[in-house]
Amino acid sequence: MENAKSEEARRHVDGYVDMTLNLRRIVYLSTAAKSLSDDVVSSIAMQAGTRNRITAISGILLSDGRRFIQVLEGSPFHVEATMKRIVHDPRHVDIKVAENVATDRRCFGTWSMQFRRVGDGYYSKDFVREVAEAARDIQDVSVKALLVGFAALGR
Ligand SMILES: Cc1cc2nc3c(=O)[nH]c(=O)nc-3n(C[C@H](O)[C@H](O)[C@H](O)COP(=O)(O)O)c2cc1C
Repeated sequence: MENAKSEEARRHVDGYVDMTLNLRRIVYLSTAAKSLSDDVVSSIAMQAGTRNRITAISGILLSDGRRFIQVLEGSPFHVEATMKRIVHDPRHVDIKVAENVATDRRCFGTWSMQFRRVGDGYYSKDFVREVAEAARDIQDVSVKALLVGFAALGR
């Protein structure tokens, strides 16, 4: 009950209300340029969350300390501008875009950039369920499987 209440509050604070149905979603995978400590990865995620809140980009960033998978969704202008900065970031390499589509709804609209460390005993059944639920509207089954599979690393 308490959880349901705080979940509702979080949605209220973080949820984005779109005035347009013209949205873009990008999903990509990348590899850390060198082994990154949890602190460095957390600071990347914190910086990402702060900037994304300003530009109303929602999504998720998962990392097992070596690889990243990220979903960015929001206005085409902001998503593309953010992606342009991300691909030039020397902290990761081998960036492979799994999906880049126009969409009329957000899958991760309540998360300005939900970050999770996965693998190495970080497995959380509830979190995997949340990701699977959020990814329900992703049409491409391989992209959906990629996201849920990454979230379930370490099981
Ligand atoms: C794996 C990874 C994910 C990132 N995700 C975001 C993000 O969602 N939003 C964002 O603004 N920056 C993100 N960044 C940081 C950007 O690459 C960039 O450093 C930051 O936006 C500042 O750019 P600027 O120095 O050109 O202003 C990410 C970086 C990495 C390595």
